[in-house]
Amino acid sequence: MKHTKVKDLLKSATTLQDVNAKGWVRTFRNNQFIALNDGSTIHNIQCVVDFENTPEETLKRITTGAAISVIGTLVESKGAGQKYEIQVAKLEILGDSDAEKFPMQPKKHSLEFLRENAHLRVRTNAFGAIMRVRSVLSYAVHNYFHEKGFVYVNTPIITGSDAEGAGEMFKVTALPFDNPPRTEEGEVNYKEDFFGKETNLTVSGQLEGETFAMALGQIYTFGPTFRAENSNTSRHLAEFWMIEPEVAFNDLDDNMDLAEDFIQYVIKYTLDKCQDDLKFLETRLLDEEKSKPQAERSEMSLLEKLNFVLDNNFKRVSYTEAIDILKNSTPNKKKKFQFIIEEWGADLQSEHERYLVEKHFKCPVILYDYPANIKAFYMRLNEDGKTVRAMDILFPGIGEIVGGSQREERYEVLVEKMKALGIDEEELWWYLDTRRFGSAVHSGFGLGFERLVLFVTGMTNIRDVIPFPRTPGNAEF
Ligand code: 4AD
Ligand code: MG
Repeated sequence: MKHTKVKDLLKSATTLQDVNAKGWVRTFRNNQFIALNDGSTIHNIQCVVDFENTPEETLKRITTGAAISVIGTLVESKGAGQKYEIQVAKLEILGDSDAEKFPMQPKKHSLEFLRENAHLRVRTNAFGAIMRVRSVLSYAVHNYFHEKGFVYVNTPIITGSDAEGAGEMFKVTALPFDNPPRTEEGEVNYKEDFFGKETNLTVSGQLEGETFAMALGQIYTFGPTFRAENSNTSRHLAEFWMIEPEVAFNDLDDNMDLAEDFIQYVIKYTLDKCQDDLKFLETRLLDEEKSKPQAERSEMSLLEKLNFVLDNNFKRVSYTEAIDILKNSTPNKKKKFQFIIEEWGADLQSEHERYLVEKHFKCPVILYDYPANIKAFYMRLNEDGKTVRAMDILFPGIGEIVGGSQREERYEVLVEKMKALGIDEEELWWYLDTRRFGSAVHSGFGLGFERLVLFVTGMTNIRDVIPFPRTPGNAEF
Protein backbone atom coordinates (compact mmCIF):
# COMPACT_ATOMS: atom_id res chain seq x y z
CA MET A 1 0.00 0.00 0.00
CA LYS A 2 1.30 3.44 -0.94
CA HIS A 3 1.46 5.86 1.96
CA THR A 4 0.27 9.45 1.80
CA LYS A 5 2.16 12.47 3.08
CA VAL A 6 0.75 14.03 6.22
CA LYS A 7 0.63 17.37 4.45
CA ASP A 8 -1.73 15.93 1.82
CA LEU A 9 -3.86 14.12 4.39
CA LEU A 10 -4.40 17.33 6.32
CA LYS A 11 -5.37 19.12 3.09
CA SER A 12 -7.79 16.42 2.02
CA ALA A 13 -11.19 17.66 0.80
CA THR A 14 -13.04 14.75 2.37
CA THR A 15 -12.68 12.07 4.98
CA LEU A 16 -11.04 8.93 3.56
CA GLN A 17 -11.05 5.17 4.06
CA ASP A 18 -7.86 3.14 4.20
CA VAL A 19 -5.15 5.72 4.40
CA ASN A 20 -1.57 4.87 5.22
CA ALA A 21 0.77 7.32 6.94
CA LYS A 22 4.40 6.76 7.83
CA GLY A 23 6.53 8.95 10.03
CA TRP A 24 8.14 9.45 13.42
CA VAL A 25 6.36 9.62 16.74
CA ARG A 26 6.65 13.01 18.38
CA THR A 27 4.54 12.19 21.44
CA PHE A 28 2.23 9.45 22.66
CA ARG A 29 -0.38 10.46 25.22
CA ASN A 30 -2.77 8.42 27.34
CA ASN A 31 -1.83 5.21 25.55
CA GLN A 32 -4.06 6.50 22.78
CA PHE A 33 -2.99 9.66 20.93
CA ILE A 34 0.07 9.63 18.71
CA ALA A 35 1.38 12.92 17.29
CA LEU A 36 2.96 11.75 14.05
CA ASN A 37 5.28 13.85 11.93
CA ASP A 38 6.69 12.88 8.57
CA GLY A 39 8.58 16.05 7.70
CA SER A 40 6.23 17.09 4.91
CA THR A 41 4.75 19.85 7.08
CA ILE A 42 5.22 21.52 10.44
CA HIS A 43 1.92 19.92 11.51
CA ASN A 44 1.62 16.53 13.13
CA ILE A 45 -1.29 14.30 12.38
CA GLN A 46 -3.02 12.82 15.38
CA CYS A 47 -3.36 9.04 15.16
CA VAL A 48 -5.86 7.56 17.58
CA VAL A 49 -4.91 4.06 18.65
CA ASP A 50 -7.52 1.49 19.57
CA PHE A 51 -5.57 0.60 22.70
CA GLU A 52 -7.97 -2.07 23.88
CA ASN A 53 -7.31 -4.11 20.77
CA THR A 54 -3.62 -3.35 20.43
CA PRO A 55 -1.15 -5.70 22.13
CA GLU A 56 0.55 -4.27 25.21
CA GLU A 57 3.88 -5.11 23.56
CA THR A 58 3.16 -2.81 20.61
CA LEU A 59 1.85 0.04 22.77
CA LYS A 60 5.12 0.01 24.71
CA ARG A 61 7.06 0.45 21.52
CA ILE A 62 5.22 3.65 20.50
CA THR A 63 7.88 5.94 21.86
CA THR A 64 9.16 9.39 20.93
CA GLY A 65 11.40 9.03 17.90
CA ALA A 66 10.12 5.63 16.75
CA ALA A 67 9.33 5.17 13.05
CA ILE A 68 5.83 3.79 12.52
CA SER A 69 3.32 3.03 9.82
CA VAL A 70 -0.40 3.39 10.49
CA ILE A 71 -3.32 2.30 8.37
CA GLY A 72 -6.77 3.57 9.18
CA THR A 73 -9.56 6.01 8.43
CA LEU A 74 -9.10 9.72 8.01
CA VAL A 75 -11.90 11.22 10.08
CA GLU A 76 -12.82 14.71 11.21
CA SER A 77 -11.11 15.51 14.46
CA LYS A 78 -13.02 16.58 17.50
CA GLY A 79 -9.86 17.97 19.02
CA ALA A 80 -9.00 21.64 18.66
CA GLY A 81 -6.40 22.76 16.14
CA GLN A 82 -6.66 19.98 13.60
CA LYS A 83 -9.14 19.23 10.89
CA TYR A 84 -8.48 15.52 10.60
CA GLU A 85 -7.05 12.63 12.53
CA ILE A 86 -6.49 8.97 11.74
CA GLN A 87 -8.50 6.28 13.49
CA VAL A 88 -5.86 3.58 13.49
CA ALA A 89 -6.88 0.08 12.36
CA LYS A 90 -3.39 -1.32 11.95
CA LEU A 91 -0.15 -0.11 13.43
CA GLU A 92 3.33 -1.33 12.62
CA ILE A 93 6.55 -0.32 14.37
CA LEU A 94 9.13 0.18 11.62
CA GLY A 95 12.01 1.23 13.83
CA ASP A 96 12.17 1.36 17.60
CA SER A 97 13.52 4.31 19.52
CA ASP A 98 14.73 3.89 23.08
CA ALA A 99 12.78 6.59 24.88
CA GLU A 100 15.43 6.86 27.62
CA LYS A 101 18.23 7.42 25.18
CA PHE A 102 16.60 9.41 22.36
CA PRO A 103 18.09 12.92 22.69
CA MET A 104 15.15 14.82 21.16
CA GLN A 105 12.76 14.68 24.08
CA PRO A 106 9.39 16.39 23.66
CA LYS A 107 10.47 19.56 25.48
CA LYS A 108 12.35 22.71 24.60
CA HIS A 109 16.06 22.11 24.12
CA SER A 110 18.76 24.76 24.04
CA LEU A 111 20.11 25.63 20.61
CA GLU A 112 23.60 24.71 21.85
CA PHE A 113 22.44 21.23 22.76
CA LEU A 114 20.71 20.87 19.41
CA ARG A 115 23.88 21.88 17.53
CA GLU A 116 25.68 18.99 19.18
CA ASN A 117 22.97 16.78 17.73
CA ALA A 118 22.82 18.24 14.24
CA HIS A 119 21.87 14.82 12.86
CA LEU A 120 18.74 14.66 15.04
CA ARG A 121 17.78 18.30 15.55
CA VAL A 122 16.03 18.26 12.19
CA ARG A 123 13.41 16.08 13.91
CA THR A 124 12.30 19.07 15.99
CA ASN A 125 9.59 21.47 14.82
CA ALA A 126 11.90 24.46 14.56
CA PHE A 127 14.64 22.73 12.57
CA GLY A 128 12.16 20.97 10.33
CA ALA A 129 10.68 24.38 9.51
CA ILE A 130 14.08 26.02 9.00
CA MET A 131 15.28 23.32 6.64
CA ARG A 132 12.08 23.37 4.58
CA VAL A 133 12.33 27.17 4.30
CA ARG A 134 15.98 26.84 3.27
CA SER A 135 15.02 24.37 0.57
CA VAL A 136 12.25 26.61 -0.81
CA LEU A 137 14.58 29.62 -0.77
CA SER A 138 17.14 27.79 -2.86
CA TYR A 139 14.43 26.76 -5.32
CA ALA A 140 13.37 30.42 -5.50
CA VAL A 141 16.95 31.40 -6.32
CA HIS A 142 17.05 29.09 -9.33
CA ASN A 143 13.54 30.12 -10.37
CA TYR A 144 14.41 33.80 -10.35
CA PHE A 145 17.47 33.48 -12.52
CA HIS A 146 15.91 31.01 -14.91
CA GLU A 147 12.89 33.24 -15.41
CA LYS A 148 15.32 36.00 -16.34
CA GLY A 149 17.31 33.84 -18.75
CA PHE A 150 20.51 33.49 -16.69
CA VAL A 151 22.72 30.46 -17.26
CA TYR A 152 23.57 28.42 -14.16
CA VAL A 153 27.32 27.80 -14.06
CA ASN A 154 29.09 25.30 -11.82
CA THR A 155 32.40 26.88 -10.96
CA PRO A 156 35.16 24.67 -9.55
CA ILE A 157 35.46 23.87 -5.87
CA ILE A 158 39.15 23.09 -6.11
CA THR A 159 40.94 26.15 -7.43
CA GLY A 160 44.46 27.28 -8.17
CA SER A 161 43.79 30.94 -7.34
CA ASP A 162 42.60 33.19 -4.54
CA ALA A 163 39.54 35.03 -5.83
CA GLU A 164 39.31 37.52 -3.00
CA GLY A 165 43.06 37.96 -2.51
CA ALA A 166 42.45 37.65 1.22
CA GLY A 167 44.52 34.51 1.75
CA GLU A 168 41.91 32.82 3.95
CA MET A 169 41.90 29.48 2.17
CA PHE A 170 41.83 25.79 2.98
CA LYS A 171 44.59 23.94 1.20
CA VAL A 172 43.78 20.91 -0.89
CA THR A 173 46.52 18.34 -1.01
CA ALA A 174 47.05 14.66 -1.70
CA LEU A 175 50.58 14.74 -0.30
CA PRO A 176 51.36 12.49 2.68
CA PHE A 177 50.74 14.54 5.78
CA ASP A 178 53.66 13.05 7.77
CA ASN A 179 56.31 13.13 5.17
CA PRO A 180 55.60 15.38 2.18
CA PRO A 181 58.22 15.85 -0.55
CA ARG A 182 60.29 18.95 0.09
CA THR A 183 62.27 21.40 -2.01
CA GLU A 184 65.97 21.88 -1.36
CA GLU A 185 65.00 24.81 0.88
CA GLY A 186 62.88 22.48 2.99
CA GLU A 187 59.51 23.87 1.84
CA VAL A 188 56.71 21.43 1.00
CA ASN A 189 57.01 20.82 -2.73
CA TYR A 190 53.52 21.20 -4.17
CA LYS A 191 54.91 20.66 -7.68
CA GLU A 192 54.82 16.98 -6.76
CA ASP A 193 51.24 17.19 -5.54
CA PHE A 194 48.22 15.78 -7.38
CA PHE A 195 47.69 18.87 -9.55
CA GLY A 196 51.35 19.80 -9.80
CA LYS A 197 50.72 23.03 -7.92
CA GLU A 198 49.26 24.45 -4.73
CA THR A 199 45.47 24.30 -4.71
CA ASN A 200 42.71 25.50 -2.42
CA LEU A 201 39.00 25.17 -1.75
CA THR A 202 37.29 28.07 -3.49
CA VAL A 203 36.42 31.22 -1.55
CA SER A 204 34.22 32.48 -4.39
CA GLY A 205 33.28 31.46 -7.92
CA GLN A 206 33.41 35.04 -9.14
CA LEU A 207 36.53 35.03 -11.28
CA GLU A 208 35.49 31.92 -13.19
CA GLY A 209 31.94 33.33 -13.32
CA GLU A 210 33.23 36.50 -14.96
CA THR A 211 34.80 34.52 -17.78
CA PHE A 212 31.44 32.87 -18.45
CA ALA A 213 29.50 36.15 -18.25
CA MET A 214 31.81 37.47 -20.97
CA ALA A 215 30.44 34.79 -23.27
CA LEU A 216 26.94 33.91 -22.05
CA GLY A 217 25.92 37.40 -20.99
CA GLN A 218 24.13 36.64 -17.73
CA ILE A 219 25.19 33.81 -15.47
CA TYR A 220 24.91 32.80 -11.85
CA THR A 221 26.60 30.32 -9.58
CA PHE A 222 25.12 28.73 -6.47
CA GLY A 223 27.51 26.52 -4.62
CA PRO A 224 29.57 25.92 -1.51
CA THR A 225 32.45 28.26 -0.71
CA PHE A 226 35.06 27.96 2.01
CA ARG A 227 36.86 30.44 4.21
CA ALA A 228 39.53 29.66 6.73
CA GLU A 229 38.94 32.91 8.61
CA ASN A 230 39.09 32.34 12.31
CA SER A 231 35.92 34.25 13.09
CA ASN A 232 33.87 32.67 15.78
CA THR A 233 30.80 34.82 15.26
CA SER A 234 27.12 34.15 14.76
CA ARG A 235 27.48 35.36 11.13
CA HIS A 236 30.46 33.34 9.88
CA LEU A 237 30.87 29.77 8.71
CA ALA A 238 33.96 28.06 7.33
CA GLU A 239 31.74 26.40 4.71
CA PHE A 240 28.81 28.39 3.37
CA TRP A 241 26.77 28.62 0.19
CA MET A 242 27.04 31.60 -2.05
CA ILE A 243 24.93 32.82 -4.96
CA GLU A 244 26.94 34.85 -7.45
CA PRO A 245 25.30 36.41 -10.50
CA GLU A 246 27.54 38.12 -13.04
CA VAL A 247 26.19 40.20 -15.91
CA ALA A 248 27.95 41.61 -18.97
CA PHE A 249 27.19 45.28 -19.76
CA ASN A 250 25.70 45.93 -16.30
CA ASP A 251 27.11 48.89 -14.38
CA LEU A 252 26.93 49.39 -10.63
CA ASP A 253 23.41 50.86 -10.72
CA ASP A 254 22.14 47.90 -12.74
CA ASN A 255 23.87 45.63 -10.24
CA MET A 256 22.04 47.27 -7.33
CA ASP A 257 18.72 46.99 -9.18
CA LEU A 258 19.34 43.30 -9.82
CA ALA A 259 20.30 42.55 -6.22
CA GLU A 260 17.29 44.35 -4.80
CA ASP A 261 14.84 42.75 -7.22
CA PHE A 262 16.35 39.33 -6.64
CA ILE A 263 16.20 39.51 -2.85
CA GLN A 264 12.63 40.77 -2.89
CA TYR A 265 11.61 38.01 -5.29
CA VAL A 266 13.04 35.15 -3.23
CA ILE A 267 11.56 36.48 -0.01
CA LYS A 268 8.14 36.93 -1.63
CA TYR A 269 8.30 33.45 -3.13
CA THR A 270 9.13 31.91 0.24
CA LEU A 271 6.46 33.92 2.06
CA ASP A 272 3.91 32.49 -0.36
CA LYS A 273 5.12 28.89 -0.23
CA CYS A 274 6.10 28.51 3.43
CA GLN A 275 3.23 30.13 5.28
CA ASP A 276 2.85 27.44 7.93
CA ASP A 277 6.56 27.14 8.65
CA LEU A 278 7.04 30.91 8.81
CA LYS A 279 4.03 31.32 11.09
CA PHE A 280 5.48 28.67 13.35
CA LEU A 281 8.88 30.39 13.39
CA GLU A 282 7.21 33.74 14.05
CA THR A 283 5.36 32.37 17.08
CA ARG A 284 8.53 30.76 18.35
CA LEU A 285 10.29 34.11 18.07
CA LEU A 286 7.48 36.00 19.80
CA ASP A 287 7.76 33.58 22.73
CA GLU A 288 11.48 34.24 22.89
CA GLU A 289 10.95 37.99 22.75
CA LYS A 290 8.70 37.80 25.80
CA SER A 291 11.64 36.75 27.94
CA LYS A 292 13.59 39.87 26.93
CA PRO A 293 13.37 43.28 28.57
CA GLN A 294 10.92 45.57 26.74
CA ALA A 295 13.65 47.81 25.33
CA GLU A 296 15.39 44.92 23.59
CA ARG A 297 12.31 43.49 21.99
CA SER A 298 11.96 43.68 18.26
CA GLU A 299 9.45 46.23 17.00
CA MET A 300 8.25 43.95 14.21
CA SER A 301 7.21 40.34 14.07
CA LEU A 302 8.95 38.04 11.60
CA LEU A 303 6.26 38.34 8.93
CA GLU A 304 6.07 42.09 9.35
CA LYS A 305 9.82 42.29 8.91
CA LEU A 306 9.72 40.22 5.72
CA ASN A 307 6.84 42.22 4.28
CA PHE A 308 8.64 45.43 5.16
CA VAL A 309 11.55 44.41 2.94
CA LEU A 310 9.14 43.74 0.09
CA ASP A 311 7.32 47.04 0.45
CA ASN A 312 10.28 49.37 0.82
CA ASN A 313 13.12 50.27 -1.51
CA PHE A 314 16.60 49.66 -0.19
CA LYS A 315 18.26 52.94 0.76
CA ARG A 316 21.30 53.67 -1.44
CA VAL A 317 24.05 55.59 0.33
CA SER A 318 27.66 56.20 -0.61
CA TYR A 319 30.43 55.27 1.81
CA THR A 320 31.32 58.95 2.18
CA GLU A 321 27.72 59.87 3.05
CA ALA A 322 27.61 56.99 5.53
CA ILE A 323 30.76 58.22 7.23
CA ASP A 324 29.22 61.68 7.58
CA ILE A 325 26.13 60.20 9.17
CA LEU A 326 28.21 58.12 11.57
CA LYS A 327 30.44 61.07 12.46
CA ASN A 328 27.44 63.09 13.51
CA SER A 329 25.65 60.36 15.40
CA THR A 330 25.82 59.51 19.06
CA PRO A 331 24.95 55.84 19.38
CA ASN A 332 25.52 55.77 23.15
CA LYS A 333 24.04 59.15 24.02
CA LYS A 334 27.37 60.76 24.87
CA LYS A 335 29.93 58.77 22.93
CA LYS A 336 30.44 59.17 19.20
CA PHE A 337 31.85 56.53 16.89
CA GLN A 338 35.55 56.97 17.57
CA PHE A 339 37.62 55.65 14.71
CA ILE A 340 35.70 57.27 11.91
CA ILE A 341 36.45 60.75 13.06
CA GLU A 342 40.11 59.92 12.75
CA GLU A 343 40.20 58.98 9.09
CA TRP A 344 38.14 58.58 5.95
CA GLY A 345 39.07 55.23 4.46
CA ALA A 346 38.59 52.97 7.45
CA ASP A 347 36.53 49.83 7.01
CA LEU A 348 33.16 49.86 8.73
CA GLN A 349 32.79 47.56 11.70
CA SER A 350 29.60 45.61 12.18
CA GLU A 351 28.46 48.02 14.92
CA HIS A 352 28.59 50.86 12.36
CA GLU A 353 26.72 48.86 9.76
CA ARG A 354 24.07 47.91 12.26
CA TYR A 355 23.69 51.47 13.44
CA LEU A 356 23.06 52.67 9.89
CA VAL A 357 20.52 49.96 9.13
CA GLU A 358 18.76 49.52 12.45
CA LYS A 359 18.89 52.95 14.03
CA HIS A 360 19.42 55.51 11.29
CA PHE A 361 17.66 54.32 8.12
CA LYS A 362 15.62 51.49 9.64
CA CYS A 363 15.57 49.62 6.34
CA PRO A 364 17.97 47.61 4.16
CA VAL A 365 20.84 49.79 2.96
CA ILE A 366 23.08 49.55 -0.09
CA LEU A 367 26.43 51.18 0.62
CA TYR A 368 28.49 51.94 -2.49
CA ASP A 369 31.67 53.64 -3.68
CA TYR A 370 33.98 52.38 -0.97
CA PRO A 371 37.62 53.42 -0.57
CA ALA A 372 39.70 51.35 -2.96
CA ASN A 373 42.18 50.26 -0.30
CA ILE A 374 39.64 48.27 1.74
CA LYS A 375 38.16 46.36 -1.19
CA ALA A 376 39.27 43.53 -3.50
CA PHE A 377 41.60 44.05 -6.48
CA TYR A 378 39.04 43.45 -9.22
CA MET A 379 36.73 46.39 -8.49
CA ARG A 380 36.28 49.25 -10.98
CA LEU A 381 38.22 52.36 -9.93
CA ASN A 382 36.14 55.55 -9.97
CA GLU A 383 37.29 58.73 -11.67
CA ASP A 384 38.25 60.22 -8.28
CA GLY A 385 41.07 57.69 -8.21
CA LYS A 386 40.39 56.69 -4.60
CA THR A 387 37.01 54.95 -4.50
CA VAL A 388 35.80 51.83 -6.28
CA ARG A 389 32.39 50.83 -7.62
CA ALA A 390 31.73 48.43 -4.78
CA MET A 391 28.43 47.78 -3.06
CA ASP A 392 27.53 46.02 0.15
CA ILE A 393 23.94 45.36 1.10
CA LEU A 394 23.26 45.60 4.81
CA PHE A 395 20.23 44.02 6.43
CA PRO A 396 18.68 44.65 9.83
CA GLY A 397 19.77 42.05 12.36
CA ILE A 398 22.23 40.55 9.89
CA GLY A 399 24.68 43.20 8.71
CA GLU A 400 26.33 42.47 5.37
CA ILE A 401 24.25 40.08 3.30
CA VAL A 402 25.65 40.94 -0.15
CA GLY A 403 29.05 42.06 -1.40
CA GLY A 404 29.48 43.01 -5.03
CA SER A 405 30.88 45.47 -7.54
CA GLN A 406 31.26 46.68 -11.06
CA ARG A 407 34.48 45.02 -12.22
CA GLU A 408 37.61 46.74 -13.47
CA GLU A 409 37.30 46.11 -17.21
CA ARG A 410 40.42 48.07 -18.25
CA TYR A 411 43.37 45.73 -18.69
CA GLU A 412 46.11 48.24 -17.79
CA VAL A 413 44.36 49.55 -14.70
CA LEU A 414 43.69 46.01 -13.49
CA VAL A 415 47.28 44.88 -14.00
CA GLU A 416 48.55 48.00 -12.26
CA LYS A 417 46.34 47.24 -9.28
CA MET A 418 47.43 43.61 -9.12
CA LYS A 419 51.07 44.66 -9.18
CA ALA A 420 50.48 47.11 -6.35
CA LEU A 421 48.91 44.35 -4.27
CA GLY A 422 51.52 41.73 -5.16
CA ILE A 423 49.01 39.50 -6.98
CA ASP A 424 50.78 37.24 -9.45
CA GLU A 425 49.77 38.07 -13.03
CA GLU A 426 50.99 34.68 -14.25
CA GLU A 427 48.62 32.88 -11.88
CA LEU A 428 45.63 34.84 -13.18
CA TRP A 429 46.59 34.86 -16.87
CA TRP A 430 43.27 33.27 -17.76
CA TYR A 431 41.33 35.94 -15.82
CA LEU A 432 43.27 38.70 -17.54
CA ASP A 433 42.31 37.18 -20.90
CA THR A 434 38.75 38.46 -20.34
CA ARG A 435 40.24 41.96 -20.40
CA ARG A 436 42.51 41.19 -23.35
CA PHE A 437 39.82 39.83 -25.61
CA GLY A 438 36.53 41.70 -25.90
CA SER A 439 36.51 43.33 -22.49
CA ALA A 440 33.37 45.24 -21.48
CA VAL A 441 31.69 46.77 -18.47
CA HIS A 442 30.30 44.03 -16.25
CA SER A 443 29.11 43.60 -12.69
CA GLY A 444 28.08 41.01 -10.18
CA PHE A 445 27.62 40.24 -6.52
CA GLY A 446 27.74 37.47 -3.98
CA LEU A 447 24.90 36.76 -1.58
CA GLY A 448 25.68 34.63 1.45
CA PHE A 449 22.85 32.10 1.34
CA GLU A 450 22.90 31.32 5.07
CA ARG A 451 22.65 35.01 5.93
CA LEU A 452 19.53 35.15 3.78
CA VAL A 453 18.13 32.06 5.52
CA LEU A 454 18.91 33.72 8.87
CA PHE A 455 16.91 36.76 7.87
CA VAL A 456 13.95 34.84 6.53
CA THR A 457 13.69 32.41 9.46
CA GLY A 458 14.41 35.03 12.12
CA MET A 459 17.12 32.82 13.62
CA THR A 460 20.10 34.61 15.14
CA ASN A 461 22.97 32.16 14.82
CA ILE A 462 24.21 31.08 11.40
CA ARG A 463 24.97 27.61 12.80
CA ASP A 464 21.23 27.05 13.05
CA VAL A 465 20.34 27.55 9.39
CA ILE A 466 22.73 25.11 7.70
CA PRO A 467 22.34 21.34 8.16
CA PHE A 468 25.85 20.59 9.41
CA PRO A 469 27.72 23.77 10.33
CA ARG A 470 31.50 23.99 9.98
CA THR A 471 33.12 26.51 12.29
CA PRO A 472 36.57 26.67 13.92
CA GLY A 473 37.00 23.48 15.93
CA ASN A 474 33.75 21.96 14.64
CA ALA A 475 33.48 19.32 11.95
CA GLU A 476 31.94 16.51 13.97
CA PHE A 477 29.51 15.27 11.38
O1 4AD B 1 31.79 40.00 0.41
P1 4AD B 1 32.31 38.69 -0.10
O2 4AD B 1 33.60 38.22 0.43
O3 4AD B 1 32.33 38.83 -1.69
C1 4AD B 1 32.80 37.90 -2.56
O4 4AD B 1 33.21 36.81 -2.31
C2 4AD B 1 32.66 38.34 -4.00
N1 4AD B 1 33.57 37.53 -4.81
C3 4AD B 1 31.23 38.21 -4.44
C4 4AD B 1 31.00 38.65 -5.85
O5 4AD B 1 31.09 39.83 -6.13
N2 4AD B 1 30.71 37.72 -6.74
O6 4AD B 1 31.23 37.56 0.18
C5 4AD B 1 29.91 37.68 -0.32
C6 4AD B 1 28.89 37.36 0.74
C7 4AD B 1 28.94 38.26 1.96
O7 4AD B 1 28.25 39.48 1.74
C8 4AD B 1 28.28 37.41 3.01
O8 4AD B 1 26.87 37.46 2.87
C9 4AD B 1 28.74 36.02 2.62
O9 4AD B 1 29.12 36.07 1.26
N3 4AD B 1 29.87 35.58 3.43
C10 4AD B 1 29.77 34.67 4.41
N4 4AD B 1 28.73 33.98 4.90
C11 4AD B 1 28.95 33.11 5.90
N5 4AD B 1 30.17 32.87 6.43
C12 4AD B 1 31.26 33.52 5.97
N6 4AD B 1 32.46 33.27 6.50
C13 4AD B 1 31.09 34.48 4.92
N7 4AD B 1 31.93 35.27 4.23
C14 4AD B 1 31.17 35.93 3.34
MG1 MG C 1 32.21 41.46 1.76
